[in-house]
Amino acid sequence: MIHIEGFRKHFGKGAKRVPAVDGISMEARPGRVFGLLGPNGAGKTTTLRAVATLIQPDEGRIQVAGHDVVAEPHAVRSKLGFLTGATGLYDRLSAAETLDYFGRLQGMDPQRIKRRTRELAELLEMEPFLAQRVGTLSTGQKQKCSIARAALHEPEVIVLDEPTSGLDVIASAGVVAFIHRCAQEGRTVLFSTHIMSEAETLCHDLAFIHKGRIVESGTLDELEERHGSRNLNGIFLKVTGHGPQD
Ligand SMILES: Nc1ncnc2c1ncn2[C@@H]1O[C@H](COP(=O)(O)OP(=O)(O)OP(=O)(O)O)[C@@H](O)[C@H]1O
Ligand SMILES: [Mg+2]
Repeated sequence: MIHIEGFRKHFGKGAKRVPAVDGISMEARPGRVFGLLGPNGAGKTTTLRAVATLIQPDEGRIQVAGHDVVAEPHAVRSKLGFLTGATGLYDRLSAAETLDYFGRLQGMDPQRIKRRTRELAELLEMEPFLAQRVGTLSTGQKQKCSIARAALHEPEVIVLDEPTSGLDVIASAGVVAFIHRCAQEGRTVLFSTHIMSEAETLCHDLAFIHKGRIVESGTLDELEERHGSRNLNGIFLKVTGHGPQD
């Protein structure tokens, strides 16, 4: 469902040209949650932006739901919901109006927009602030609004960049449950985080990215087999050479 092969992306020019992502390959499958884990600057956002067609690979191929991100970006976008911290919401629209507006942009009919708004508002506990202007919402409420917007058109593939960033434990748990449900519905979920405990409970497949490269990947069981532990923090420190080695 998401197929990445040899993806490479550089930023900067001349001597300052450095790889942000240095040749990664991975596959995220329907009905499963794939966690891309890594520290600040590892290349998570760059990878997810390329999957979402917002930037183009310098090298390699990325396919989403069978469509190439460079050759068929429109087809990819219609099948994909993308959450990124940088996506602006309109302060003057209410949360409900925001969903209505983006639903129309996606070509959804008004009945379907209403139904999805109700469903998502319930799932993400957005009812108390649906009528409130986005500009007056708290960080967590805005984040829920962004997540609902990304999932509104029932995309086959959901890509979330640090979805729980800035959320309290209750709101985070709600988002984690929401992601879990998306996978149960058969969607392909790819998300990034540097919160290892979240990934431990949520992800079927995991990849650690460090300095633009995948340094370890597999299911939690496979990681446990290789490292004798399910502690992702410990495994991550070990594979990046920061922790005790075997
Ligand atoms: N538009 C850009 N121009 C120049 N450099 C960039 C750009 N976007 C990302 N980079 C660089 O690429 C590298 C990877 O950045 P990226 O945002 O993908 O990391 P990340 O894993 O998402 O980190 P974080 O956890 O801090 O969000 C970093 O060194 C960053 O400075
Ligand atoms: Mg990032």
